Parts: sequence; C-alpha cells; structure tokens
Amino acid sequence: MSESTETKTLVADFEEWREVAEEAVKLLQNGEVVALPTETVYGLAADAFNGEAVAKVFAIKERPSFDPLIVHLGKWRDLGKVANVPEEIRDTVTAITKEFWPGPLTLVLPKKEEVSDLVTSGLPTVAVRVSAHEVMREVAKKVGAIAAPSANRFGRMSPTSASAVQAELGGKIPLIIDGGACRDGLESTIIKVEPGEPKPMITILRPGPVSREDLRAFGTVRKAKPGKNEQVEAPGQIESHYAPSAKLVIREKGKSIEKEEGLRYGLLSYKGENYEEDEWDEVEILSPGSGKLAEAAVRLFHCLRKLDESGVDVIVADPVSETGVGVAIMDRLRRASADR
Ligand code: TXA
Ligand code: MG
Repeated sequence: MSESTETKTLVADFEEWREVAEEAVKLLQNGEVVALPTETVYGLAADAFNGEAVAKVFAIKERPSFDPLIVHLGKWRDLGKVANVPEEIRDTVTAITKEFWPGPLTLVLPKKEEVSDLVTSGLPTVAVRVSAHEVMREVAKKVGAIAAPSANRFGRMSPTSASAVQAELGGKIPLIIDGGACRDGLESTIIKVEPGEPKPMITILRPGPVSREDLRAFGTVRKAKPGKNEQVEAPGQIESHYAPSAKLVIREKGKSIEKEEGLRYGLLSYKGENYEEDEWDEVEILSPGSGKLAEAAVRLFHCLRKLDESGVDVIVADPVSETGVGVAIMDRLRRASADR
C-alpha cells in the first residue's frame, strides 16, 4: 500500500453501525487492511487466515516480523478455529473467558495449524481475544477471525480515537471506522495459563485493564519476568515502546526535575494537584474528574499524544499508585521513558 492511499473515515454511530461494519467486512474479505475500534485501543485489522493481508499489517506498521499479532474472534465459540485448548487447563480457560469475554483480556494458547505463521511470528502459540466493542465483534464474526495489533506505527503510542489513527496511519490505509473514544484506553491484559498445584498458574505477559486482583480467583497469578527469552515470551514487551516523540521522564514522588535552559517542558499530572502553572509550558491532567486510576487509564495515550503534539521537548510524568490498572499505566509510562 502506498503513502498516497486516500483514507476514508466512517462513523459507526447508533443506527448505522452495522452498515459501516459491512464496509470494513468487504474490504477485509478483499485482502485489504482497515482500522477498527475496540474497547482498549484501535486495531489495524486483517483477515487472520489471509497471509498476504497479514503481511500488509506488518508493512504498514513497520513492525518487525518477530512481534506476533493478536487474533480477535466474534464469539467465544470460535476459539476452536484458531487455538487448541489443552485438556489440563480447559476448565480454567473456560472459567476465565466466561468471566472476561467479551473484554480486554487476551489468552496465549497453542495455535491451530490453519493460523498463518505470519500472525504468530512462527510461535507455536496464538494470542486470542473477543473484544467488547460491537463493531470489532461483528466484523470478526463475518470475516471469521481478525488479526489486529494496535493501529500505530511500531514503537509509538496506541491510538484511542479515530483521529489518533489518522495521525498515525492516514494515507496508508483505505478505511478507519470511527467507533468513538476507547472505553478502556489501554491495551488488553495478556496472560498464559498453565496447570499447577494447588491452583493453575496464570502468568501476566502484559498488564492491562484486567488486573492481577481480578485474576486471582482463577489461579496463582504472577508477572512474567523480563528475561533473555523475552522476545519469545512476550515479544511486544520490548523495552522502548509506546513512545512519544518528546523525551519522557517519570518524576519520583516529592522530587523536582532539573530543567535544561531553552527546552520546553510538559507535565503529565495524575490528579492536577501540587503544581505551579507557570513552571510548565503545557499541562495535561490524567484524572481531572474522579481522580481515579480507571479515568487515568482511559486518558493516558490521549494526554501523551496532546503533550507530544504541543511540541514540548520533555514530558514529565507523575507516577500513579501501582494497584489495579495502575500497574498497566506505570508499565506503559516506564516503556515510554526507556532510552531509545
Ligand atoms: O488491546 C489490545 O490488545 C489491542 C487491540 C487492538 O486488541 N491490540 C494490541 O496489539 O495491543 P499489539 O500488537 O499492539 O500487541 C500485541 C501483543 C504484543 O506484545 C505481542 O508480542 C503479543 O501481543 N503476542 C501476540 N502473540 C503472542 C504469542 N503467541 N505469545 C506471546 N505474546 C504474543
Ligand atoms: Mg501495540
């Protein structure tokens, strides 16, 4: 696909969303790639069973081929089309998917042969989820299965609105379906389930809206240790990721930042407390309403994008508490602040 493709945006609102979804289905069935809304972040979608279409996703995102994609299903019952659920973990997987699907939880399971090796980057496993967004579900039902990573250029912040997708990929794809601002605002939690005694073992490969606390009822939960084989365990957990163009620094509680003469500084404040207006060139507040982590999660990429677009050189982020979805927020902030 060339830079000069005209990118059309169609709004999927109350009455017309099915017709709009149909436009996406037609393009996908023709091997094209389109951007679709989900409850987490916007996805760059291709037919998961069409290798050529999947290859386009990697090319458009400039994503390295070793970083596999998530497969989105239209319904729980389609799981068998793409994954084999081992007998030893079947009950746990069933209980977990019953609880969290449709929703922001992705499971890594042994893959079915039919799933293209391109989707899984040659891994024997496939990452699967059923999105809570009706447009993504409808399209996935019609196409069969949708391979969709976040609709941003590789290494950048995920888009949480149609205009953010346009800013990332405008001119490179034929269609963006505008399904409004994303409800959760952070990418899905990715887990792996293994048999274990006395309880099954649940490993969080990427923290997200479904928290460790939420998963505890289903097994012993642990976080994947970043190690040498990280590229195989959780390839997308590459250090430098989710990055704005500006440099990002996390401000330790109670400490001030030494500013360099001539640079412009933006503050990413959690609740909008404890800062002097005239000390900053730009300020964005993650949770101006409720002062809660869920609101901060929804606004994280939106606020980072706004600060970036304002042209500041450095973004200084306040840390948030690492409980619930706060773990995922800090994970994204740390990766965004990693040296590039
Ligand atoms: O919320 C989300 O998950 C969004 C929306 C669009 O669904 N998608 C998303 O995709 O965040 P992406 O490609 O940006 O991240 C997918 C992550 C990557 O970290 C990738 O390495 C990991 O999933 N992944 C995919 N297949 C895997 C596998 N078989 N084993 C381990 N990790 C896998
Ligand atoms: Mg991504």
